[in-house]
Amino acid sequence: MTLPSSPVLQALKKSASSMANRNTPFVYNEWYVAAFAQEVSREFLPRILLGKRVMLFRTETGQAVALSDRCAHRAYPLSLGKLDGDTIVCGYHGFRFNTEGNCIEVPSSSKCPKDLGVARYKVAERGPLVWIWMGDPDQADESRLPEHEWLCDESAWATSSGYFNLQSNYVSMHENLLDLTHLSFLHAATFGTPDYARAEFRSEISQGYFALHRDVVPTTLPALWAKPTGLEGCATAARIVKSEFKSPAFHQVNVSFYDSKLAEQDRRVSRIKTAHILTPQTNSSCHYFIVHGRDFGLEDDAITGFMHENLFKAFQEDVDGMAALEQVWETTDPDDMYEISVVSDGPSVAMRRYLKQRADAEAAARALPNASVQTVSTAETPSRKAETA
Ligand code: FES
Ligand SMILES: [Fe+2]
Repeated sequence: MTLPSSPVLQALKKSASSMANRNTPFVYNEWYVAAFAQEVSREFLPRILLGKRVMLFRTETGQAVALSDRCAHRAYPLSLGKLDGDTIVCGYHGFRFNTEGNCIEVPSSSKCPKDLGVARYKVAERGPLVWIWMGDPDQADESRLPEHEWLCDESAWATSSGYFNLQSNYVSMHENLLDLTHLSFLHAATFGTPDYARAEFRSEISQGYFALHRDVVPTTLPALWAKPTGLEGCATAARIVKSEFKSPAFHQVNVSFYDSKLAEQDRRVSRIKTAHILTPQTNSSCHYFIVHGRDFGLEDDAITGFMHENLFKAFQEDVDGMAALEQVWETTDPDDMYEISVVSDGPSVAMRRYLKQRADAEAAARALPNASVQTVSTAETPSRKAETA
């Protein structure tokens, strides 16, 4: 039996203490995806985002709106009330709110008390996604949205999408996506191949951006990729992968496939991109939105159906695997818990340190008497000024 010695264990735990995990506060000053655009309608959509109750809906002119899903009066869920034009009527005692979150009518009173309202969050709708900013409203700059133009370019990318309510913290899922060594094992029955884990890789680590490149050449592609790319039976296929953490909310996997025995000018390169979009729900669960795109066979619905069905079987393996991992953390005595990192964990370790630093800095700023980072307090304050800033 080879277990880490006590000094080694202490060193491992010290190193892990600088990395984000399920216990790390959320990073609020980022854009996160609240919903697919098609989910937001004239019906209220209640959703827990970054530990807070939010509801989304559209105005009569189609603008997406996000408000705190709790009435300012007795905290009844506003999403159980009704939309009357562009006002929201609470289903308990009938307080009425406008789309800014301000209370504009109290049925039992001739006057609406001043400074009564619920938090309103800024949203930005881009293509199939509705993004939300739940941190300091003054920092809600749309230029901070992670780059995702391809998701909105239907002329160049054929896409399909899906959603999982992942029973895992979002940090673990980012880590899963950054090191695709697991394809050979967790996905051995779907899109992994035995040579994947041993293929050469290189890392890119910079502030807020972490990537792992892996070139699997030559390889034989699993049916999921071989069939639609026309590389079935090809023993000299190339699978060139870049897995990128672009923000705490957004991870992108980019893959190119071609026959490596052909000269560069003769190759037909088929590309896919997958947006893995994570929005924390609680410390042990997150919303997992996925948009998968390809730049070939754009009009071929049969390819879309085939790839979607098989990809989501593979993604289900991640969902099940991450839930199993979460249970280990949930049920293990913290004194007995440790992690050991290897070279391919480099980008994930750097990413987890980055998240921890961001979360700690925000928490420290919140603790200041005149905090400029109003993350937690903004969401719950009854002040109309703060809510609509
Ligand atoms: S709880 Fe909403 S009006 Fe009373
Ligand atoms: Fe996976």
